[in-house]
Amino acid sequence: MVSVPAFETVDLARSYRLEGVSVDALRGVSLRIDHGEFVAIVGPSGSGKSTLMHLLGCLDRPTSGILRVNGVDVATLDDGGLAELRNQAIGFVFQSFHLLARTSALENVALPLVYRGVGRAERRERARRALSAVGLGHRLGHRPSQMSGGEQQRVAIARALVGDPKVVLADEPTGNLDSRNGEEVMDILRELNSSRGVAVVLVTHEREVADLARRRIHVRDGRIELDTAAGDDGQGDEVAP
Ligand SMILES: Nc1ncnc2c1ncn2[C@@H]1O[C@H](COP(=O)(O)OP(=O)(O)OP(=O)(O)O)[C@@H](O)[C@H]1O
Ligand SMILES: [Mg+2]
Repeated sequence: MVSVPAFETVDLARSYRLEGVSVDALRGVSLRIDHGEFVAIVGPSGSGKSTLMHLLGCLDRPTSGILRVNGVDVATLDDGGLAELRNQAIGFVFQSFHLLARTSALENVALPLVYRGVGRAERRERARRALSAVGLGHRLGHRPSQMSGGEQQRVAIARALVGDPKVVLADEPTGNLDSRNGEEVMDILRELNSSRGVAVVLVTHEREVADLARRRIHVRDGRIELDTAAGDDGQGDEVAP
């Protein structure tokens, strides 16, 4: 049986309109990312990495082209359907964490389950487990403002994991962290990928982080410049551009 890819895009494009001027942030990206993969997206600032992540994560819609998430063409979904797909299938980790500052770690992590209609007791239990999984079982009642940067990023990862997503998208998850905290965050993401088979797609500017991924996709000027899976021996060997 051929398995359905986590993501499949054909000529995916996204333009932004700004004061009458059109910015072509993505100009025709075709790729396939399978379940269980660990992919790093790299490229210069402004090359379209976050734009691509927002599209893959169903936070935004393409201007043109096709995007299938778990085999579902997002163009066939209304906004509610898109939100549901996002909530069921995908966990997000952003560089700036996006945590509620005045809400405990436990409640921050439990929040995505509210939208799924999970009852309060189960929400709290699952949030507790997700926080323990990232080494924060002793910080359940702390608010983000009372935590270190590395701890906050781990809360954000726990929140991404609490719904048992098949895919985690992380936009510069180590960008705001010192090297020790960055390593811890990467260890968590690698563990998730290797032991739970969760597909991880992350954006990074750091060479050492990109080197941990089995596959690297280089983006430049809104296009894929190099994809180490193209070829494809699956070993992630770099092909000279
Ligand atoms: N909401 C927006 N409105 C207008 N232009 C935008 C918007 N978001 C991004 N852009 C433009 O699209 C291009 C791609 O932006 P994007 O955020 O995807 O880059 P990036 O590769 O993630 O960069 P960085 O590494 O700095 O985070 C940039 O030129 C940016 O200015
Ligand atoms: Mg970005």
